[in-house]
Amino acid sequence: MIQRQGSSPRRPRALVGLCFILVMLMAGCGSLEATVLHHATDAPAAEADAAQAKAAMPTDAPSATPIPPTATPIPPPTATATPPPTATPAPTETPVLSPIDRMVAVRNPEKGKVLFETFQENAGSGYSCSNCHLPTSEKTNIGPGLLNIKQRASTRIEGMTAAEYIYESIIDSMAYTVEGFEVDLMPQNWAEIYTDLEIFDIVAYLLTLEGESDINDSDSESADSEADSG
Ligand code: HEC
Repeated sequence: MIQRQGSSPRRPRALVGLCFILVMLMAGCGSLEATVLHHATDAPAAEADAAQAKAAMPTDAPSATPIPPTATPIPPPTATATPPPTATPAPTETPVLSPIDRMVAVRNPEKGKVLFETFQENAGSGYSCSNCHLPTSEKTNIGPGLLNIKQRASTRIEGMTAAEYIYESIIDSMAYTVEGFEVDLMPQNWAEIYTDLEIFDIVAYLLTLEGESDINDSDSESADSEADSG
């Protein structure tokens, strides 16, 4: 009897205790209400929470095999710097011929010589090329002497061949001015007097004017100063 009487009130007490423990557990894990709200309104945050929790959890066991170091180390930056931009191409290189070069190559230098010496009354106040340019000398006669003009012309303007430079000098005498000379001495209307083909003939002729230089550096200076003074 004593046992029964004693045991019967103990059971409900145990049930109440269990319920209490359950409630306490739920409260401990975070309130049910809060959890539900959390999931409903902020799913990504919940996921983040889970991830955080996972991260916080200690790894179950230290991995048996340590991560091996990468076999190939990253190579150091190459020692050689990028090469500087190449200078002007070597003059020995034969570039693809421009239309002017091709035309001049097939024109008639003898005809060009005749045109060079022909007086043109409409050229400026009336001139022939030869009035101002000596074909057999490098010395100045109003204009620069044209002996060996082929050599000089090829170095005058970077990227221009001798034929291109001479052609441009004739049709647009203002385009380039030889150092020591006045800009507007040479008649500027040769393109109206001679056709393109005739000018190509003249260029072809001028390219044949080669020979021993009759001028040295000091002569060149005096020639320039002569030109300057008058
Ligand atoms: C009235 C004088 C005069 C006449 C005529 C004249 N020139 Fe000139 N020429 C000059 C002078 C001065 C220069 C230098 C200044 C300059 O470049 O404009 C020159 C420059 C040149 C140059 C560049 C020479 C160099 O060393 O870079 C060429 C090529 C040339 N002339 C060709 C001709 C031809 C071809 C004719 C005829 C179609 C002609 N000239 C008629 C005076 C003349």
